[in-house]
Amino acid sequence: MKITDFYNYKKPGKKISMVTAYDYTMAGLAAESSVDCVLVGDSLAMVMHGHESTLAATVDLMALHTGAVARAVRNKLVVADMPFLSMRKGLGPAMLAVEKLARAGAQAVKAEGLEGHEKIIAHIIKSDMPVMGHLGLTPQSINKFGGYKAQGKDPASAERLLIQAQELERLGCFALVLECVPAALAERISAALKIPVIGIGAGQGTDGQVLVMQDMLGLYGEPPSFVKKYMDGRRLVLRALNGFDGEVKKLVFPKRKRG
Ligand code: KIV
Repeated sequence: MKITDFYNYKKPGKKISMVTAYDYTMAGLAAESSVDCVLVGDSLAMVMHGHESTLAATVDLMALHTGAVARAVRNKLVVADMPFLSMRKGLGPAMLAVEKLARAGAQAVKAEGLEGHEKIIAHIIKSDMPVMGHLGLTPQSINKFGGYKAQGKDPASAERLLIQAQELERLGCFALVLECVPAALAERISAALKIPVIGIGAGQGTDGQVLVMQDMLGLYGEPPSFVKKYMDGRRLVLRALNGFDGEVKKLVFPKRKRG
């Protein structure tokens, strides 16, 4: 899937699937799969580096992981997250961040929120780097939200999210991630926009879905309640590791060569 295919996905019956990838091995699996699009999410600060939130991700860290992913994914769109504060230090630093991510192999960037960085989003897009918006429970704002709380639950905040989504479309974003908002609101926003809306914990009425790969494979702790585990990865990996350990201790591995 290329960036130009995104508008064609805004059709009944067509849905976009996106997964995160942070390293060459997992990105290679995403590349081989039928999944449409790969996101180098700033969730890598938690999943790859053990931090408590995404706030620890830096531009250099994002670029390092983006390079590893882009070397594995040659056949799909690679989107990289603009990390915490990278949109808030003015146009010059924001463009330097975009440049680092683009040179590492990102074909688009994702920026959380809208208020205060409308001009920067417009400038990035006018500089020919596509931007994916991200509204709702934007994890970079957890200190403001007071934790990981669903957004858009009351009529006023739902209205605000709709207006922000429309503004992101007007600025030229090619797609929007909508995280943890009521399903009815996600459906309403999806219907109001011409660009595809990719949901996470936002019900079925969006134009696609995104998940953190380690969550859906059951590899990373206890995932949020909206995540479907497609595999019990921790159990499988632990079985393999313990199998290896047991064989080493019993002198079964490696097999003795004959002769
Ligand atoms: O960082 C991330 O993984 C994300 C997705 C969950 C949308 O932003």
